[in-house]
Amino acid sequence: MADSNSYITMALKANPIREPMLREAIETLKLAPGSMGLDAGCGIGLQALLLAEAVGPSGHVTGLDTSREFLQYAQKIVESSPLSGRITYKEGDVNKLPFDNNTFDWVWSVDCVGYPTEENPLLKLKELTRVVKPGGSVAILGWSSQMLLPGHPLLEARLNATCSSYLPYIKEKKPKSNFLNALGWFRELGLEDSKSRTFVNEINAPLSDEMRTALISFFEMLWGEPQPEVSEDDWAEYQRLCYPDSPDFILDRPDYYAFYTYSMFQGKIPE
Ligand SMILES: C[S@@+](CC[C@H](N)C(=O)[O-])C[C@H]1O[C@@H](n2cnc3c(N)ncnc32)[C@H](O)[C@@H]1O
Repeated sequence: MADSNSYITMALKANPIREPMLREAIETLKLAPGSMGLDAGCGIGLQALLLAEAVGPSGHVTGLDTSREFLQYAQKIVESSPLSGRITYKEGDVNKLPFDNNTFDWVWSVDCVGYPTEENPLLKLKELTRVVKPGGSVAILGWSSQMLLPGHPLLEARLNATCSSYLPYIKEKKPKSNFLNALGWFRELGLEDSKSRTFVNEINAPLSDEMRTALISFFEMLWGEPQPEVSEDDWAEYQRLCYPDSPDFILDRPDYYAFYTYSMFQGKIPE
């Protein structure tokens, strides 16, 4: 992952693309008012704020992450928010959560448990289930697709094939460990009422400045580092379409359309 400061900058810039989908996912979960939950791998706490809003004044969210820098930033954000009394941050590892069995009513994890670079997602998922009470819910979410270069599907597919989310599969990652097979992980761990849902953010021109910045940051994040697998022609085409100072910058098209999806897998701990 990029260094902490550049990750924080990217996470803030990219948030307008992700937040509407993650808000919708939280609404779908119907978290009980007053419930206590864990945001596992909370990063800079952008979703902890949304979760705290959802559980209301008597609820509580614990955000956990291995990165002290991210947690310090998260703490700074929360201190200036009216939700500060509802959120606590804790440094810790999802592989060995610093909580007793059956501590939380629910657990939520975005782009962490089951992340594409994960070798054995079941171990982390099992640890999440340990800390949730019987009847409580487990939800893991992750980026699942995007179409950001309309009209250039082959270029986009070739660029995608080199980005960090897909590279593990080139290195023979097992299909079973792919996030989109998470219903199988839930079944293996004995979770009940497992279901999936995919949330879409559709983006249309004219773009707000905020959305333009978010998309530029996504281009950089996904494809901005030249990779040995990308041909010279593809790299030149990427620069022509995705560099803001190019006369053919794709975001300047009056009919620009794109979408981005997040998928959520959820299940219940048996009573
Ligand atoms: C891609 S970021 C996602 C952050 C946040 N959930 C979001 O969606 O904005 C992944 C986060 O998981 C954290 N992380 C990675 N492995 C972890 C582990 N074993 N235990 C706890 N946090 C972890 C990273 O430090 C990082 O903050």
